[in-house]
Amino acid sequence: MSAEIMDGKAISKEIQAEIAVEVAQFTQSSGVTPCLAAVLVGDDPASEVYVRNKHRACERVGIASQMHKLPASTTEEELLELIAELNSSTDVHGILVQLPLPEGIDTLRVLDAVNPHKDVDAFHPENVGLISQGRPRFLPCTPHGVQQIIDRCGIEMTGKHAVIVGRSDIVGKPMSMLLTARNSTRGPQAANATVTICHSRTKDLAAVCRTADVIIAAIGVAEFITADMVKPGAVIIDVGINRTEKGLVGDVDFDGVSEVASHITPVPGGVGPLTVTMLMYNTLEAAKLLQS
Ligand code: GUN
Repeated sequence: MSAEIMDGKAISKEIQAEIAVEVAQFTQSSGVTPCLAAVLVGDDPASEVYVRNKHRACERVGIASQMHKLPASTTEEELLELIAELNSSTDVHGILVQLPLPEGIDTLRVLDAVNPHKDVDAFHPENVGLISQGRPRFLPCTPHGVQQIIDRCGIEMTGKHAVIVGRSDIVGKPMSMLLTARNSTRGPQAANATVTICHSRTKDLAAVCRTADVIIAAIGVAEFITADMVKPGAVIIDVGINRTEKGLVGDVDFDGVSEVASHITPVPGGVGPLTVTMLMYNTLEAAKLLQS
């Protein structure tokens, strides 16, 4: 079998075009241009690339953006002061604090300080709680992007066994909440799955993966998921982005797994573009919320 490639770049373009239309309508009717403020502390090159991509995406869909670049020597208190300013600014609808923050800064204290109505990453505990209760204010960008890819590729999730490899707060845990929910932004067919989360202490992880109809790999280890861990015909979503000597690779051994799976996302060009696009979606939602 040679798997069908799920083209995240094309899907991302399609969704950005839809968002651009909605942004234009919102701006025309309200007189307000949605605005995202990104905060970048230090000079991590990968984070700089991510933040630049977010600003470019804002431009494409008609969202205004602010970039707040602070030196690595910034103290936690200085960062909290900036967040307080952005929280009270009527010009700013969404706030994104790029992670990771430099050592010495308490990440959870900083994320907790973001106004939950402007928390377009959906990292604030109030927003995580709302997601877990099935009444989300914002959807976490990467898991929402995964759900969009799955549904726009015509894959039905209801009753399927999804195995998520990785238990992070950014991907693994919120992904499990979206897939076990009763509904989604794309309808019930993109949710209602049976979900297993695997992690570093899971016994016989390969055997668990072999029971999956859908594998979502978000473990952060290059090419961890190999063909022998995949049931023939399974759908493979690769959330990993690992920099190796052979370039960017995902958490899935793409060449080997493509021979077994029915559908697979590539790296790059799979889930990555969707994360940025769903951030645009949330920024528009935040602007609508603050207007209502
Ligand atoms: N660093 C890696 N992924 C993310 C993300 O989704 N949001 C933020 N703010 N930082 C990240």
